[in-house]
Amino acid sequence: MPRSPRPIRVALVGAKFMGRAHSNAWRQAGCFFDLPRPVALHTIAARNAAELETFAAQWGWPHTTTRWRDLAEDPEIDLVDIGTPNDVHREQAVAMLEAGKHVACEKPLAGTLDDARAMRDAAKRSKAKTFVWFNYRRCPAVALAHELVREGRLGDIRHVRATYLQSWGGPDTPRVWRFQKKRAGSGAHGDLNAHIVDMARFVTGEEITEVHGAVARTFIKERPMPDDGGPDGGGALAGSKGRKKPATGRSDVDDAVLFVASLSGGATASFEATRLAPGHQNRNTLELNGSKGSLRFDFEDMNVLWFHDDTESPRTAGWRRIMCTNAAGGHPYAENWWPDAHVIGYEHGFTNMAADIVRVLCRTKPVVPLPDFADAYETQRVLEAALLSAKERCAVRLREVR
Ligand SMILES: NC(=O)c1ccc[n+]([C@@H]2O[C@H](COP(=O)([O-])OP(=O)(O)OC[C@H]3O[C@@H](n4cnc5c(N)ncnc54)[C@H](O)[C@@H]3O)[C@@H](O)[C@H]2O)c1
Repeated sequence: MPRSPRPIRVALVGAKFMGRAHSNAWRQAGCFFDLPRPVALHTIAARNAAELETFAAQWGWPHTTTRWRDLAEDPEIDLVDIGTPNDVHREQAVAMLEAGKHVACEKPLAGTLDDARAMRDAAKRSKAKTFVWFNYRRCPAVALAHELVREGRLGDIRHVRATYLQSWGGPDTPRVWRFQKKRAGSGAHGDLNAHIVDMARFVTGEEITEVHGAVARTFIKERPMPDDGGPDGGGALAGSKGRKKPATGRSDVDDAVLFVASLSGGATASFEATRLAPGHQNRNTLELNGSKGSLRFDFEDMNVLWFHDDTESPRTAGWRRIMCTNAAGGHPYAENWWPDAHVIGYEHGFTNMAADIVRVLCRTKPVVPLPDFADAYETQRVLEAALLSAKERCAVRLREVR
């Protein structure tokens, strides 16, 4: 019998929202993709010991720990996946890289540019590989947009229009870590603009060279404290010894950030992120206009890419609705999922990414390029330039932000 290749053993830090998305992705990747090496779930780490055992049993993690540093010491673990709040990405990623582990980290790369730079530099010093979970690159429609632009179907890109609109951040939303600058770095900006800046860079293949102007707003400055004052609760203010927990706490991050920019090929670009847009729940949109045509994508209808080919006769040209689920048509990732128009959802982007990470670790090609720490650092520079622009009310050239 031929020996089967050794599995890639994965550990994950963080057992809530992304903990679920990533656990599912690592479990599913080997079922839906024919991978050069299998994936084995090894250890799940998080702070809340009471919840950890239930989570591990539910998702099939054989080992648990509340001390994430244990993962660095464990010779069995090949890759550490980081799904924790932004302020701990640096400490965790650098420790794992120094221990020789491959690292897949959630976005934004970090809460601050300093942290992101330290992570990029640690990755440069290490032989291990790094990945950042910009999962929307792996929606088939976004990957197809990337391919069409690379094939020249849009000609010269003139406009990029990106929005990421959500509505969950009203005044009743508790002051969890996402509303604390020292934990999150920024609000809607690092959370949502990070995704659309990455998507714009990925689809166009161009870099942002200048932020011409930006506006950052905090509409809701006080929020109720979360019920749970435990390890994942309200943070420093919650449950301080001898003091009654306050009913509300300060939110010191942006609720919305908008900015306009230029791309290296000369295109204009606009970006808007908000958590306060009623009616829009996860409206992550990207539109490109080029000299030969246009493309548009909306995550709320994620299996579809709209394409207008302006080289066609105006008599019949128009917006074409492409259902990006056709394996015979070569749609990215379609061969790994269901028959045509048996649509996929949010979690499939993560599974597609887990499969591509395994391919890169086995020196085979991912379906479309994966962002590493150096790549995500470029997105972080754009985020920083926009914050600077909003603060100083001036244009910021990217070459001034290092
Ligand atoms: N790619 C995406 O679409 C996407 C979506 C949501 C969140 N995120 C990113 O994922 C990360 C986590 O977000 P989330 O929504 O899962 O948060 P969450 O609050 O739901 O979960 C955070 C988890 O991290 C653990 N944790 C917190 N501090 C820790 C520490 N110091 N050591 C060990 N564990 C710790 C908590 O116990 C919890 O299990 C953030 O960087 C966020 O920006 C990405």
